[in-house]
Amino acid sequence: MENSPEPVKFAYWVPNVSGGLVVSKIEQRTDWGYDYNRELAVLAENNGFEYALSQVRYIASYGAAYQHESTGFSLALLLATQRLKVIAAIHPGLWHPGVLAKFVATADQLSGGRAAVNVVSGWFKDEFTKLGEPWLEHDERYRRSEEFIRVLREIWTSEHAEFNGDFYRLHDFDLKPKPLAGADRPHPEIFQGGNSTSARRMAGRVSDWYFSNGRDFDGVTEQIRDVQAEAAVHGRRVRFGLNGFLIARDTEAEAREVLREIVAKADREAVEGFGSAVKQAGKSASDGKGMWQDSEFADLVQYNDGFRTGLIGTPEQIAERIVAYKRLGVDLFLLGFLHYLEDVEYFGKRVLPLVRELEADAAERGAPARVGS
Ligand SMILES: Cc1cc2nc3c(=O)[nH]c(=O)nc-3n(C[C@H](O)[C@H](O)[C@H](O)COP(=O)(O)O)c2cc1C
Repeated sequence: MENSPEPVKFAYWVPNVSGGLVVSKIEQRTDWGYDYNRELAVLAENNGFEYALSQVRYIASYGAAYQHESTGFSLALLLATQRLKVIAAIHPGLWHPGVLAKFVATADQLSGGRAAVNVVSGWFKDEFTKLGEPWLEHDERYRRSEEFIRVLREIWTSEHAEFNGDFYRLHDFDLKPKPLAGADRPHPEIFQGGNSTSARRMAGRVSDWYFSNGRDFDGVTEQIRDVQAEAAVHGRRVRFGLNGFLIARDTEAEAREVLREIVAKADREAVEGFGSAVKQAGKSASDGKGMWQDSEFADLVQYNDGFRTGLIGTPEQIAERIVAYKRLGVDLFLLGFLHYLEDVEYFGKRVLPLVRELEADAAERGAPARVGS
């Protein structure tokens, strides 16, 4: 068991897809365009955010008509900021890992070592079939993703990369320049999205970070134990990021009212279409434990079950909950907001200082041990 002296980290979902982060007709003061996102990225890094995550989506889907491509958009945000690390979501199956490794090495060089990737195995079958690419069964998608990550790491860290897998092959491939390496990271950080058993095993074996959909304390604890147990077998520790849709208001009643209105104004047709597509995508998982399998209608109004994390209330209530999750082993919160510019600033000014105070108190008292480490 080990204590956690590091401050908990924060990331935000880049709104590079139209329609906002909730599938609802409620007013969302946000924008998927570049000017808005550049302003948001600068504001976020000045309000305590260490990371931003760009989403990947190639075609219109449930409530998201327009999308900017994730790697190009991430590079633009890296160049517009000073400290923010920008994570680009990418799909194995639509990229060759060597081509992506090259792109990320360039982005990393241009940004002074701030590029990262989120390997997502996919739920949206149409994206693959409309591009004429095969849609693999769930667990095969993870076999491919794991090879993809191994290839990235091999190319980023070896002089003459070799790989002989079922999906990818390399022969004496020498990437120059390499991405920047340092004591805190040997190569750009590799995140992953996916919560099924295959996803957890893959994280334990090869990912630096595991992203969970929104979950309560029990749901998070169960995943952390599983992922860290697998990681321990391989002599590793995986860092844990948790999604949450954050609604902080001066009173709890105001925050709860916002949530009520989001769900009451849900775009029912889009939510139901999304729900059936993601549940279908998880069906072929060997144990049926895919990420959205137990999500209900109200959960699905936020694409990644973000209400289930319960970051809804006053700054004090939210800060306490964040620190409670940290005690369970959460290293990072991936946050979504309704009115991005206003809510990010409110978070930085009103919630974050309370989190840091609580962390300092815990450090003085001797922080409680973490789960699974
Ligand atoms: C934090 C997070 C971010 C994700 N971002 C994307 C994305 O940008 N595009 C996408 O197609 N899928 C994304 N996914 C979904 C994954 O592709 C995958 O379909 C999902 O995690 C289900 O996997 P599972 O069945 O293994 O649980 C994301 C998942 C998580 C947890």
